[in-house]
Amino acid sequence: MATEKAWGGRFTEDLDEVAGRFLVSVEVDKHLGAVDVRGSIAHAEMLCAIGVLREDERDAIVAGLQKIGAELAAGTFHFDPAREDVHMNVEATLTERIGPAGARLHTGRSRNDQVATDMRLWARGACEQVASLVDALALALCRRADEELDTLMPAYTHLQRAQPSRLSHHLLAYVEMLDRDRGRLWDCRARLNESPLGSGAVAGTTFALDRERTAKALGFDRPMRNSIDATGDRDFLAELLAALAITQTHLSRLAEELVLWSTQEYGFIEMADAHTTGSSMMPQKKNPDVAEVVRGKTGRVVGDLVALLVTLKGLPLGYNRDLQEDKPPVFDAVHQVSMCLEVLERVVLAMRFQREKMRRALDAGFVNATEVADYLVEKGVPFREAHAVAGRLVARAIELRTDLPGLSLDVFREEHPAFDDGIYPVLEPERAVERRNIVGAPARARVKAAVDDAIDRISNRKKT
Ligand code: ARG
Repeated sequence: MATEKAWGGRFTEDLDEVAGRFLVSVEVDKHLGAVDVRGSIAHAEMLCAIGVLREDERDAIVAGLQKIGAELAAGTFHFDPAREDVHMNVEATLTERIGPAGARLHTGRSRNDQVATDMRLWARGACEQVASLVDALALALCRRADEELDTLMPAYTHLQRAQPSRLSHHLLAYVEMLDRDRGRLWDCRARLNESPLGSGAVAGTTFALDRERTAKALGFDRPMRNSIDATGDRDFLAELLAALAITQTHLSRLAEELVLWSTQEYGFIEMADAHTTGSSMMPQKKNPDVAEVVRGKTGRVVGDLVALLVTLKGLPLGYNRDLQEDKPPVFDAVHQVSMCLEVLERVVLAMRFQREKMRRALDAGFVNATEVADYLVEKGVPFREAHAVAGRLVARAIELRTDLPGLSLDVFREEHPAFDDGIYPVLEPERAVERRNIVGAPARARVKAAVDDAIDRISNRKKT
């Protein structure tokens, strides 16, 4: 590779070709082009305001950077790998085009504070973008929950039918998880929104840079307090990746349930043809590949978090070139999680619920056993004793090959004298769900209020 002696007078030899290819990062960090240009414009304007650049120099720099920005957006900007990274590509092209003024842009700046600034700007945008995709998926789940308010199904623990509940309550559990995912992304956004610009390479600069001004121009809340920290740490990216890894883990759980629910064994949903694939050998197959790939991406996204943490571990303070390795995992995780959110929203909106199958799942598996115990408690029996009685009744039903409503009153009374006819209506799932009428429980009115509240909360979010 043709290398420039970009590092100036100290060097007499060009960079070794293999070393050059090894160090080059432009294929990855070119995605920072737009934010790099923004940061440079803010820096140039500030340099002029403090008297380091003349106005005509500033104007030439800003116009040149704006042109580069437009080319980056259009995909026509030419990146030269010999120029190592995005920062040097932008600056060298600018100087080629506008002459000496371009060479003044880097006054009081290092690529160390420059790249840290770029990554914060980029990560801020990513937080906002992923958070809005999280909201879109949550809204899709809310919409389906609203349509399915009257669809009953068991709630599960240990993947065993546990208690009578409703589908909408189940779907809203994911909405809650996504709500926290979104919150983590906004927490991350709030904490990362400080400006490293003006920290220089590590120990600031002798120029009287107006850091408040560049911070404000770039939408940061304030300049970072410590130049060593500002250039040498990437915990904001670790936070972003952690938030994404948790989000993706939630998506994986949803995907897993979609896979399970679309089996013959469950039969709770049918995914749209558009979101499933066939088999090249077995003509009857309709495979939930989209959900499987969402689940499968999780290893990769969690891996991205681990990759960054291990990169940071053991780094002495100040910028180290290892930090260049922050970009592949961050760009990858943001891209993968975004795609998963986007595709899951479509799957959720298009899938069909097999209401009958869900309702029938309530008739087997003794999901009303808790009702029997609660019934006795209402008659004054201590809960532990009531629990034991209900357990014995389940055993009797298994022995008699029936369910709890199939037991005669005599059998109930053999196990406890407090039973009367009133036990039978208590066992009906419709009634059992309705009686779960406390905060956070699945009685219809509670769930309806929860859906309305979630839709309201998500659609009226402040977008900052
Ligand atoms: N490409 C580098 C990165 O991503 C930019 C900073 C380079 N700084 C340096 N001192 N070599 O981290």
